[in-house]
Amino acid sequence: MTAQPLIEVQNLKVHFPVRGKGLFGGVSGYVRAVDDVSFVINRGETLGLVGESGSGKTTVGRAILRALDATDGQLTFHRNGAGPLDLRMLKGDSLRKFRRNMQLVFQDPYASLNPRMTVRDIIAEPLECLKWGTRQEIDDRVREVAGKCKLNVEHLRRFPHAFSGGQRQRICIARALVSGPQFVVCDESVSALDVSTQAEILNLLMDLQDEFGFTYLFIAHDLSVVAQVSTRVAVMYVGRFVEWAPTRKIFFNPRHPYTKALLSAVPVVDPSREFNPFKLSGEIPNPADPPSGCRFHTRCPHADGRCKAEMPDWREIDGEHFVACHHAERLG
Ligand SMILES: Nc1ncnc2c1ncn2[C@@H]1O[C@H](COP(=O)(O)OP(=O)(O)O)[C@@H](O)[C@H]1O
Ligand code: SF4
Ligand SMILES: [Mg+2]
Repeated sequence: MTAQPLIEVQNLKVHFPVRGKGLFGGVSGYVRAVDDVSFVINRGETLGLVGESGSGKTTVGRAILRALDATDGQLTFHRNGAGPLDLRMLKGDSLRKFRRNMQLVFQDPYASLNPRMTVRDIIAEPLECLKWGTRQEIDDRVREVAGKCKLNVEHLRRFPHAFSGGQRQRICIARALVSGPQFVVCDESVSALDVSTQAEILNLLMDLQDEFGFTYLFIAHDLSVVAQVSTRVAVMYVGRFVEWAPTRKIFFNPRHPYTKALLSAVPVVDPSREFNPFKLSGEIPNPADPPSGCRFHTRCPHADGRCKAEMPDWREIDGEHFVACHHAERLG
């Protein structure tokens, strides 16, 4: 079957204004959180988005979901049978209605659940906002989705504090899925959980994807977590993509020095991995004042004069493998 795009992002920029001090302080600069990023997510696949904290991952997810306004670029949702939809044009009621197609699984299951609502009401809320059906229809739908997320009917009457981190994350997932979305952003959805609970939640997300054909943008700072669920992986650094490839290539044949550095934190399970990872030192640069040329040059052991002066092109180095590094071939 040929791959069909669901989400298409072209030249996306999200710049946050930095204001000067005082009540009437003017704009003194911009945080370039996302600075010209393009990619496609195909129907039914998972794109993993990885990078250190502050690289711009959450901002990419929020821009697609229209939780914030992009500064520039195009965001297209390819509807089945109904043609492409320009997400940035959606406003008011049409945006509110369209939101059922795109949902977010929150980052922190402890902070994101209202402690005064029962689990039933938490999961039902998106349907109630949409005036989706009668109370009975909503109850039936909540029970069905809770069951798919391995919560039982007993759980629905309780309050979220009664649950473990893993169970709370199931509640968050049920709430995200109840409106029947096609596209789901999972933002650090397992980062707060211990390793065995992480594995349970990742398996649940993959089972649900198999059953319902969801398309995921799976965001995490941990490459080993991303690799477990992703069809392809994009690596982000200071607002830009530096590498993008099928997961296996990212893991076994990474071409960007930053990707190699991220991999140095991942335990080696396969001796056929042919590269020398190195440890990252220093801090991620401030996106309000990004380095000249290649944004990674301040931390890259291979940086030379060209890297400092010239921003590397985003280019296909191998089939379906894109990288932004002047010296990717030489470095192997
Ligand atoms: N609303 C905002 N206003 C100003 N700066 C922001 C805002 N949201 C995020 N940023 C900045 O944008 C950069 C990217 O943030 P984010 O997308 O949250 O990164 P990540 O999810 O990769 O950790 C960071 O430097 C962050 O401080
Ligand atoms: S372009 Fe230069 S500084 Fe940037 S990653 Fe490649 S070698 Fe390192
Ligand atoms: Mg984030």
